[in-house]
Amino acid sequence: MSADAVPTLEDLEAALGSLDGRRILVRTDFNVPLERDGDTVTIADDFRIRAALPTIEWLRERGATVVTASHLGRPKGTADPKYSMDAVRARLAELAPGVELLENLRYDPGEEGNDDAFVRTLVQGIDGYVNDAFGASHRAHASIVGPPQHVPSAAGRLLQREVDVLLGMRNRPARPFVAVLGGAKVSDKLGVIDALLETVDALAIGGAMCFTFLAAQGNPIGASLFEPDQVETCARILATATKPIHLPSDIVGMDADGNVQTYGTRLPDGAKGLDIGPGSAAEFGDVVMDARTVFWNGPMGMFEDERFASGTRAVAQAMAETKAFTVVGGGDSAAALAAFGLDDDVDHVSTGGGASLELLELGDLPGLAALRGAR
Ligand code: 3PG
Ligand code: MG
Repeated sequence: MSADAVPTLEDLEAALGSLDGRRILVRTDFNVPLERDGDTVTIADDFRIRAALPTIEWLRERGATVVTASHLGRPKGTADPKYSMDAVRARLAELAPGVELLENLRYDPGEEGNDDAFVRTLVQGIDGYVNDAFGASHRAHASIVGPPQHVPSAAGRLLQREVDVLLGMRNRPARPFVAVLGGAKVSDKLGVIDALLETVDALAIGGAMCFTFLAAQGNPIGASLFEPDQVETCARILATATKPIHLPSDIVGMDADGNVQTYGTRLPDGAKGLDIGPGSAAEFGDVVMDARTVFWNGPMGMFEDERFASGTRAVAQAMAETKAFTVVGGGDSAAALAAFGLDDDVDHVSTGGGASLELLELGDLPGLAALRGAR
């Protein structure tokens, strides 16, 4: 069975006969960014909460009682009040009054340990289970993989759409298909780089991880962030890739005295690269404009600082303007797109960072496999 073929909400309704009066556990990914000001905690971005509403509303329209559950942060199996769901619960009460939200799943070590005893407490009194937590479906945790072994289960609308879009792009892209990757670490993205090189027509690489590639080409990279233990791997990727890999031809950074400078690909001692340069931004923008499918994950530089935002903004603007089908991986690139006010101008913004990369790399996720094996 393909990863697309997971049970849907309609299948769940059919399995239960009717949803009226049924108690449905919905695993959501409400792992949202929080802002803390003394004791006051507010949600910096409620995108992931809003994204779960179609599933919640569909279930409630059919008379189901919806119980949601999520992790928040990484409290490591203890009830750390810093990671309480209170702020999320308050926002959910505004968006979907009357929907329950359990306490942070990761307060219990059984969640990350995928402990069956914890799964049993989760499904106690529950008639059916829905996974709508795309962003956490790459984790083989109790609330993701356990409930389908106990109760009729299905994918929610958000999970289904993420899988349709990302697997459709991976397996049947309109060509040319290009991927633009950034972010800090090559080591996090090696698997997906190798997998993407099988399917894309071209790859463009910016962000701090480009310095490991530039170093692999023999460029001095000054004081830029890079991963010395990945230089050989990057050299292997560059030597064996059968598709063009676009690396920056210029870099914006800070010299040893703290002045912002534009360099070529060879950085002087003490210079720290913090963004791709204007020539590279134009080139990456052209790559995006000329494609018919684009996947973008990871900022091109330290965009939170306006002096180093131009490369990321250029990619975001090209994503918004191109006629290509555009998909943005979650996390920092989604945040950048939102910061530039362009999040409505792409075709799909994924709610998952790690999950979207793993789905593109492997074509499947533990959460999807669990639903296919549902009883
Ligand atoms: C995320 O924000 O990436 C998901 O919610 C998964 O969280 P995790 O990386 O802590 O497992
Ligand atoms: Mg993560």
